[in-house]
Amino acid sequence: MNAHLNQCLQDRARLGAIPAAEVMALALYHPEHGYYRQPNGPWGFEGKDYYTALDCGPLLGETLALRLEKAWETMGQPRNFTVLEPGAGRGWLGRDLLASAQGGFADALRYLHRDDNPAARQAAETALAPWLESGQAGFIRESDPMEPFIGAVISNELFDALPAQPWRWNGEVWEREMLGPEDPFWEPAEPGTPGVWFAAQTEGDLEPGDGSVWVEGLPQLVRELSGCLEQGLFMAIDYGDSASRLLAKGADLRRYKGHAVDGTWWEGLGTCDLTADVDFTRLTALLLQEGLPDATLRSLGRWIREYAPLGAWESQWQELESPQRLQRMENLLALTLPGMMGDRFKVLEAWKT
Ligand SMILES: C[S@@+](CC[C@H](N)C(=O)[O-])C[C@H]1O[C@@H](n2cnc3c(N)ncnc32)[C@H](O)[C@@H]1O
Repeated sequence: MNAHLNQCLQDRARLGAIPAAEVMALALYHPEHGYYRQPNGPWGFEGKDYYTALDCGPLLGETLALRLEKAWETMGQPRNFTVLEPGAGRGWLGRDLLASAQGGFADALRYLHRDDNPAARQAAETALAPWLESGQAGFIRESDPMEPFIGAVISNELFDALPAQPWRWNGEVWEREMLGPEDPFWEPAEPGTPGVWFAAQTEGDLEPGDGSVWVEGLPQLVRELSGCLEQGLFMAIDYGDSASRLLAKGADLRRYKGHAVDGTWWEGLGTCDLTADVDFTRLTALLLQEGLPDATLRSLGRWIREYAPLGAWESQWQELESPQRLQRMENLLALTLPGMMGDRFKVLEAWKT
């Protein structure tokens, strides 16, 4: 574990055991020593901790360009169409979107990268260079206020990176996962709002061991991001499931290090990624509260088949040299096969009108 974080935790532990979500917040976002506040990014294959859909190739950004072009048309082709990406990481989704947008949509498109992660910012300066130079792309800080705009708020793997608290029903009471002086343990606790939410999702038929994760900061972030939209599309691409399915599987925190994944979230703090399934039922309910009704949730595989002209693209790929052709095919398989990202990842879309 990072020695500074260890000291922070020891200081905090004088007040008692620490809820897992607080440990996760510190481990990922401590201003100096957090995993997402380091100069080097964790994304990629060799020597890195995990990859995202963007490492597999440009297919996600290319499909997004077509999806957003359709949204732009539905909205009557506004002259300015701003795309804000919170949790934008290296800016690769923005790069692939900007590189494949065409015609009047490309002229209207402006992309804003929002992620205070220093590694993200540095990598995005390179990835977005041509569009930063032309003024078609820009950066904003997480604390920057934004005037509402017409366009879209998009994210890839933002919501799974928010500090999340595991809760579990033991058959009699709710327990939350804590970090004690040495080991993690489950402590009976009054569940308050999460308990009400979990009970409502299961109609009271919880089994011992059922449980899920609760992101305390989700309402605030959803309010902030949906508030940026005057009119347009809110899209979240992430892994997760409905609230009832997460409860039935006993959703917990995951730790990624060197492409290995396990549940020992309390180990190697500050040097490993910590992540949790997204509760799409709750995200949908919060969007509704913010005036974005009728959200639709599709698997990533289905969403790609809906918006990407795969037949035409496959014919074009046949013209490529063998290594490039193979890369394109692998990119498609990684994002659409059910056992890869095709089913586990979902795309949530909701409109602000
Ligand atoms: C799992 S990474 C995903 C990065 C990128 N979207 C990708 O797919 O490669 C999550 C990113 O979200 C950022 N993040 C977390 N909370 C955020 C917030 N409230 N606003 C903007 N970015 C945030 C983190 O700094 C981190 O870079």
